[in-house]
Amino acid sequence: MPRTVVLLTLLLAALSLGADKKPTTRHAIEPADNSYCLTCHINFQEEKLASQHQKIGVACSSCHGPSDKHSSDEDGLTAPDIIFSKELIAVTCTACHKNGALEKDGAHAPLLAGKAAEPYKFCTDCHGKHAMAHRTRRWDKNTRKLISDDGVRMMNQVPEKK
Ligand code: HEC
Ligand code: HEC
Ligand code: HEC
Ligand code: HEC
Repeated sequence: MPRTVVLLTLLLAALSLGADKKPTTRHAIEPADNSYCLTCHINFQEEKLASQHQKIGVACSSCHGPSDKHSSDEDGLTAPDIIFSKELIAVTCTACHKNGALEKDGAHAPLLAGKAAEPYKFCTDCHGKHAMAHRTRRWDKNTRKLISDDGVRMMNQVPEKK
């Protein structure tokens, strides 16, 4: 094999090893535009998990899907495209943050070994405050069906003529 080919092969191997450790979207350094979602979810603008990712081009929609139907439903009855049962959180995060890199980190060893206990069991227990203090709607996290809501509709907010 010519020397350049050997070098190239080694370089590619090194790069793909690196890619295993780091999120592969590193090149996406343009900040993401979350303004669509923030019109209603303004409390997530400063929230750490969302803003850490927004800075490096990972948008709300990268994790929750484009969610157009959700965003244009003024009564707020349609769930976003992707919502997370607790079991789905780590799987989603580690699709980008490979276990190999996290294992080297003391903070993650118990979690990845399946030995973490509440309240530090899920990635979002330690990373960010990615939660709403008050909920008016609940969807089943697996089927995305509405299971409860406070009954308030845009229509109801217009005072009725007597
Ligand atoms: C027109 C307003 C509106 C827009 C725009 C909007 N949302 Fe929402 N969203 C809501 C309402 C209302 C709820 C329910 C809040 C509650 O329980 O009080 C909600 C809840 C959610 C939830 C919680 C789902 C769960 O697990 O229960 C997620 C996730 C979410 N929105 C993501 C998004 C994303 C991502 C976008 C942008 C693509 C977006 N939303 C845009 C109104 C909006
Ligand atoms: C679409 C890919 C993607 C997903 C999914 C994702 N991340 Fe990230 N995350 C990144 C990238 C890219 C960075 C910036 C590069 C870096 O520093 O690792 C980042 C940065 C971070 C950082 C900051 C690292 C630092 O030192 O600044 C934390 C913490 C983090 N992510 C946690 C999470 C958690 C928790 C989840 C799941 C809820 C998650 N990520 C899901 C791609 C992703
Ligand atoms: C018990 C709390 C805890 C849990 C649970 C946790 N982390 Fe972390 N994580 C930390 C601490 C502490 C750091 C180091 C300080 C920092 O960057 O916030 C860290 C750092 C990180 C970083 C940046 C540095 C690195 O090692 O690459 C990423 C990415 C990350 N965590 C992802 C995750 C993901 C993905 C999960 C779920 C599989 C998770 N974390 C679960 C506590 C936790
Ligand atoms: C890195 C992936 C990631 C990004 C980026 C992200 N989310 Fe989330 N989101 C999650 C995960 C995972 C959960 C489930 C958290 C849990 O149950 O602890 C969640 C939950 C939520 C919830 C439900 C909170 C509750 O109290 O039930 C809302 C609302 C939400 N996200 C809105 C947003 C909005 C708006 C943005 C952008 C500004 C955004 N998310 C960006 C991963 C992400």
